[in-house]
Amino acid sequence: MLKIKNVVAGYGKAEVLHGIELYVDAGEVVALVGPNGAGKTTTIRCVTGQLPIKQGLVTYKEKDISQIPAYQIVNLGICCSPEGRNVFGNLSVYENLKMGGYLIHGKQLYKEQLEWVYSLFPKLWERRDQLAESLSGGEQQMLAIGRAIMSKPSLLLLDEPSLGLAPVVVDQIYEKIEEISHEGTSILLVEQNVRLALEISSRAYVMESGQIRLCGKSSELEKDSYIEQTYLGVK
Ligand SMILES: Nc1ncnc2c1ncn2[C@@H]1O[C@H](COP(=O)(O)OP(=O)(O)O)[C@@H](O)[C@H]1O
Ligand SMILES: [Mg+2]
Repeated sequence: MLKIKNVVAGYGKAEVLHGIELYVDAGEVVALVGPNGAGKTTTIRCVTGQLPIKQGLVTYKEKDISQIPAYQIVNLGICCSPEGRNVFGNLSVYENLKMGGYLIHGKQLYKEQLEWVYSLFPKLWERRDQLAESLSGGEQQMLAIGRAIMSKPSLLLLDEPSLGLAPVVVDQIYEKIEEISHEGTSILLVEQNVRLALEISSRAYVMESGQIRLCGKSSELEKDSYIEQTYLGVK
């Protein structure tokens, strides 16, 4: 579904991604983990069209999307819940969701999607008329995910959905991510929380300093001694 082939990218003269390879097949949850500054968000930006790549290829459903601008990427069925959530604080919960669904053709589908998001996150329904900035961190994360899935994407990119949230809230959000996946959405999950990411994903990539250091089945990576020592705190 999504293929990233030998991608080199960066900011100005600074090269951040030094030729990375990654793919996500239909229906998969794939994790991209690694320390702060490794290049995970930069990778996502190369897929969403926010950052032009310098070398390599990004394809989606066998089509080269590396030159397609960000506003058209959503039309292809790729949506992103960005790092730091970035909800529109001065808009209501409902208005935020409406922004996510503005590309939907047809009122019926819009209604269905909205109902789906509200059924997935009943808190958002309860708080639909509240300003997004008045929500807790966990609720804002739910809103960011809800907004991203409003347009019924086939591929959902999640950038650090657990960041800054209490463990019990993180568990709730991860349950919802699983539900979204079971509905048939493919997911690329970016996480610093390696343990959590390996639990939910079928395959994972470990990124360090702009390179893929390791990749494989998540169940196998969980037992890898390098991962245990570096990321899981096993001595
Ligand atoms: N907008 C930007 N301009 C310049 N450098 C950036 C920008 N965003 C990220 N970087 C740099 O790119 C590197 C990778 O960052 P990032 O992709 O955000 O890592 P991660 O998401 O894995 O924490 C870091 O060294 C960071 O300082
Ligand atoms: Mg990041």
